[in-house]
Amino acid sequence: MPAAWPRAGTSPEEKRFRGQCKLGAVAQAYDRYRPAPPQVAVDWLLPKRVTSGVDLAAGTGALSRCLLARADQVIAVEPDERLAAVLARRLPTVRLLVGRAESLPLSDASVDAVLVSSAWHWLDVEAAVAEIARVLHPGGLLGTLWTSLDRQTARGAVLWESARGLMPHRSDRSQGYRPEAVCLPAGGPFAQPEIASLQSSGRVRPGRLAEVIGTYSSVITLPAPERERLLAQVRDSVAANPAFVGRARVTVPFSCRCCGDTGRAGAHRAAGRAR
Ligand SMILES: C[S@@+](CC[C@H](N)C(=O)[O-])C[C@H]1O[C@@H](n2cnc3c(N)ncnc32)[C@H](O)[C@@H]1O
Repeated sequence: MPAAWPRAGTSPEEKRFRGQCKLGAVAQAYDRYRPAPPQVAVDWLLPKRVTSGVDLAAGTGALSRCLLARADQVIAVEPDERLAAVLARRLPTVRLLVGRAESLPLSDASVDAVLVSSAWHWLDVEAAVAEIARVLHPGGLLGTLWTSLDRQTARGAVLWESARGLMPHRSDRSQGYRPEAVCLPAGGPFAQPEIASLQSSGRVRPGRLAEVIGTYSSVITLPAPERERLLAQVRDSVAANPAFVGRARVTVPFSCRCCGDTGRAGAHRAAGRAR
């Protein structure tokens, strides 16, 4: 197990993307098609039930749904009002706050856990870490999750091969950019994460794979004609792929990479997690 958070360089493209999240434009489709983090990942991060848990950068609430099983009070923080509106409709018992990671609308030392699912790469990490440390109780948990196709499995590898030539190319990928990596400022409060990859799977209709791909920022931010061309290409490619032909649904394997850290107090370990 690595002794420090995995690091990723901040590329110019990553910086350009920050503050330009366009997912609100496809809020309903995002809610419907984007793979959610699995419950098993949230259970791993929070082996004991907590009083209050924050879903930071909550989107339409995929993580909040899992957190409801592990926290008495779930607070969702989301800056985009269109995504937040979907969350509010779907999860009326979640306390929803419109806000950003760099300036959290929460009091000092007021929550037990802050979890971030598939959104770490959107944050100004230095400011966000300072804010997360401020709002956590001493020994409270910072947890990050990144859910993606599990390419270690044979089926995941086949699906990846079918899709990868079609996704828009991010120039910074070749420079080592990995959104699943979590970069924390050196010398900050969170330095000794526990890390795990948890497996899960979902059943998807092949005809819906283009909709899933359409929920990723690199596709949403394409000019409309280019986006439509790409999604039509994905539909054609899926329709012609022997792995999908004649199948009502296919099982898609996912892997969720989780990092959990209780900061210098180390209470996560004290709370009984096996290391
Ligand atoms: C890929 S979505 C992830 C949504 C959700 N957590 C999930 O797992 O489906 C990224 C989310 O980060 C949010 N976001 C972007 N910049 C943010 C910031 N600076 N502070 C808080 N949230 C932010 C976006 O509005 C969007 O909801």
